[in-house]
Amino acid sequence: MLQHMTGEKRFLVVGAGTMGNGYARMLAGGRVPGAVLAGVVDIDGTKALELAGATGAPAFGDIETAIAATGADAAYVATPDGLHRVPVETLAQRGLSILVEKPLATTVEDAHAMIEAVNDAGVYAEVNYSNRWNPPFIEAMRSVESGEVGELRSFNVCLNNPVSSPRDRLRWSGGTTPAWFLMSHCLDLALWLGRKKALTVYASGGRGELAGYGIETYDWIHAVVRYADGADGVFESCWILPDSWPGGAEFNFKAIGTKGAITVDTTYQNIAVTAERHRYPGTIQWAPARLQAFVRGIEGQGRTRVSFEDGLEVTKTLVAIHRSLESGGVETV
Ligand SMILES: NC(=O)c1ccc[n+]([C@@H]2O[C@H](COP(=O)([O-])OP(=O)(O)OC[C@H]3O[C@@H](n4cnc5c(N)ncnc54)[C@H](O)[C@@H]3O)[C@@H](O)[C@H]2O)c1
Repeated sequence: MLQHMTGEKRFLVVGAGTMGNGYARMLAGGRVPGAVLAGVVDIDGTKALELAGATGAPAFGDIETAIAATGADAAYVATPDGLHRVPVETLAQRGLSILVEKPLATTVEDAHAMIEAVNDAGVYAEVNYSNRWNPPFIEAMRSVESGEVGELRSFNVCLNNPVSSPRDRLRWSGGTTPAWFLMSHCLDLALWLGRKKALTVYASGGRGELAGYGIETYDWIHAVVRYADGADGVFESCWILPDSWPGGAEFNFKAIGTKGAITVDTTYQNIAVTAERHRYPGTIQWAPARLQAFVRGIEGQGRTRVSFEDGLEVTKTLVAIHRSLESGGVETV
């Protein structure tokens, strides 16, 4: 068992993939005050062992064994999009605080079951809509709260990835869509900044490029979301930006309010390096601050929180968006 100080939260990282690696290394590297890595769990033994080797924490093939061996009291869940429910239910039943990756769930039924599980167990739980800790959006929230831009009325948000992301990095991209993977962030930002309840959606998308690589999902999805107060938003998520794209993502956000407007573009990361190729190295990092906020939240001190109810709201909107993609019509959320 790793050495730890009294009061420190002992984390399990469930899912030793891209996100699990990042969060486990942050915890093991002492980058999150008040939290340590107690163990890593993955059903893929090789992945668990690799991450265990890199962090010095023990590896496990299932959550029950990991809890029994480590006495962990918190968990970060980074399993694929549609596979969050079972780990969350197991962790809740065992009384651990839970930070689960976005989207909370890919069905409304799963989202409700997860809310019931954490409520029944009385555990602290959040969804990792991490852009709420992305510095430009923290500033956007300050601007909204100050009243200077008035009531937000119109959103125009795009979050896109180069094709190598679904083609080479994400082994399960054929089991999800760019809307679940990317648009979920954009919808959560509109929900958080505008406190908007989605009423109806219309969505359209295209297929073909990824199918050519044997990945049966949408290349891109566009959605128009109408909110209960008459505001609306246009959202784009695309998975086929060229691989020559100079950064890991294209992320443009515009919100127009009754008294002003906010625009954010994190694509360029405040730096361009032109060497063998032109690129924008990632500089706007917020993951440690997000995890720190979760730890403070467990202790009842969090300011920003992503509740499972907010996660349900985004899931409901996305379920309607996928219905609209199939029906070709406007769908009620
Ligand atoms: N917050 C963000 O900015 C952000 C960014 C990227 C991805 N994500 C989300 O994080 C989640 C994980 O994405 P990723 O890119 O790390 O995926 P990944 O494929 O790299 O990793 C997922 C891991 O989960 C493991 N796994 C599957 N079922 C499991 C189970 N029942 N128990 C334990 N391990 C299990 C897999 O073997 C795999 O190693 C997704 O929901 C994704 O949408 C969030």
